[in-house]
Amino acid sequence: MLRPGVLQRYWDWLDLPEHTVRLSLSEGSTPLIPMPRLAKDLGGGFDLYVKYEGLNPTGSFKDRGLVAAVGEAVGRGARTVICASTGNTAASSAAYAARAGVRAVVLVPEGKIALGKLAGALAYGATVVQIQGSFDHALALVREATQRYPIALVNSINPYRLQGQKTAAFEIVDALGRAPDWLAIPVGNAGNITAYWMGFKQYHAAKGSGLPQLLGVQAQGAAPLVLGHPVEHPETVATAIRIGRPARGEEALAAARESGGRIIAVPDDAILAMQRALAREGVWVEPASAAGLAGLAAEIETGRLDPRGKTIVAVVTGHGLKDPDIILRQAVDLPSIPPRLDALHPYLLAD
Ligand code: F0G
Repeated sequence: MLRPGVLQRYWDWLDLPEHTVRLSLSEGSTPLIPMPRLAKDLGGGFDLYVKYEGLNPTGSFKDRGLVAAVGEAVGRGARTVICASTGNTAASSAAYAARAGVRAVVLVPEGKIALGKLAGALAYGATVVQIQGSFDHALALVREATQRYPIALVNSINPYRLQGQKTAAFEIVDALGRAPDWLAIPVGNAGNITAYWMGFKQYHAAKGSGLPQLLGVQAQGAAPLVLGHPVEHPETVATAIRIGRPARGEEALAAARESGGRIIAVPDDAILAMQRALAREGVWVEPASAAGLAGLAAEIETGRLDPRGKTIVAVVTGHGLKDPDIILRQAVDLPSIPPRLDALHPYLLAD
């Protein structure tokens, strides 16, 4: 059976121009996976789900936004799209540009993009340019380039990106029958948390489905929204959210405030520990994707968030396969043996 993409499923709920080309790679419709063991480890007494966005066609939530932004750009005649990216937007914009038969140019911070993302962008045929600087430098250059050249910008400052991305909030409400009590979500350039809030508010206005409190989570070394000022040299193992000057920072702060929630920061070791905890329950995500849950765990442990009786959804934004290095670097000393049973014996009964 053909599976519709988000533009087909939710067209009437999206504020997109009629000229938008309705592309699809069957993005969206990602599962809400219950995490009972993790909830128990965090004290129990509540329902915890992850929205597994790594199951989108290019392995991250970006596909929801890029299908809309690229479709709109192509519909008004653009022949080239451009973005700055920590990697996932690069791969996604490249895939939808390929689908639409136009060019994608992607600017990435040199040496700071995970292998699976770079390979993806190249596989889909993008022109990949490494920038000697951070994501923030790349985005500034993209803004400048799109003012001077007839090229469509598809970063999340493009409003159509958010139209596509808010469909994830619709899916959560459609699956649960109402909005969760809390939504925990990683924050980088701050487009996604802004889009979710738009989606929840729109559904609530139409259906009375309720509103979640938002817990946005940044990495401690890249936490401008927690510090209250830009970070010149952002640094974190979660390269996807290594951003010091979020384009939609003000909107994200306003959304968190309006929801009765907040934006917090967690250290890298907590992010990596949560990545491992998720994988031990069968859900492998890239480091940035574990930040939302790491933040939730910290808030529960310190008593700032009482989860009892609540329904909590954590958005896990990208697949673990995007960033295999981070796991392989920790897998020290794999055994190597001759192909004989006696050599294999000690490994068979180990716990
Ligand atoms: N998680 C992942 C896996 C991401 O790739 C990103 C952003 C985020 C979370 C944060 O979302 O920026 O909307 O607050 N990645 C962008 C990129 C910056 O270029 O792929 P945000």
